[in-house]
Amino acid sequence: MHIDIITVLPELLESPFQHSIMKRAQEKGLLTVQVHQLRKWAVNEYGQVDDYQYGGGAGMVMMCEPLAKAIEELSQQRKPGRPAGGYDEVIYLTPDGELLNQQTANAISLKEDLLLICGHYKGIDERIRQQFVTKEISIGDYVLSGGELAAAVLVDAIGRLLPGVLNDETSALFDSFQDNLLAPPVYTRPEDFRGWKVPDVLMGGNHKLIEEWRHEQSLKRTKERRPDILSQDE
Ligand code: 6GU
Repeated sequence: MHIDIITVLPELLESPFQHSIMKRAQEKGLLTVQVHQLRKWAVNEYGQVDDYQYGGGAGMVMMCEPLAKAIEELSQQRKPGRPAGGYDEVIYLTPDGELLNQQTANAISLKEDLLLICGHYKGIDERIRQQFVTKEISIGDYVLSGGELAAAVLVDAIGRLLPGVLNDETSALFDSFQDNLLAPPVYTRPEDFRGWKVPDVLMGGNHKLIEEWRHEQSLKRTKERRPDILSQDE
């Protein structure tokens, strides 16, 4: 998978993909992430990419021209004939987008070429959303000061799902949400820490009993904490 990200704050996206699983995904050649400074396509020598909004009101709006030029230039470096001019999806990160969940992440992880657009201030000119953006995503019902951290969240959520990124030990199959259940509690050494003990069943070595216990715990947790995600048959 290849992901281009357009932002006015590329520094915010330097570290998130250079560690742990995202690092491994890139080293294995399963994921490439390229961050692009929008000011490269600024309208003047001062690097201007935003302006006051028509109709008045506080807050700047990111202008059409830099974004359109950036999107068109980057699109040409991708494969032609895709739904979004060289990309499978052009995604705008915005608090009024579709709420990101595991199903959406699973679906996006099947794509090959993505362009992510990070907004700032009051957002981007509506015409860019209409003409270029194919999907709008929010990572939750709260407002961030820009789309960068949301983009990092999205890339992490989809990057770890790419075939070959995780191994058996870190397999995404047992993640919370993959089967509409939260993950069960986990324990590691020592068996007794300050008198706080690991549940007996995990120490017994009976794999069938352990799986049953884990499923029960998952169910209990989901009923208590997230009854909204529980599927009908549980
Ligand atoms: Cl994608 N962007 C911003 N600015 N705030 C958010 C968000 C995105 N998702 C939740 N809050």
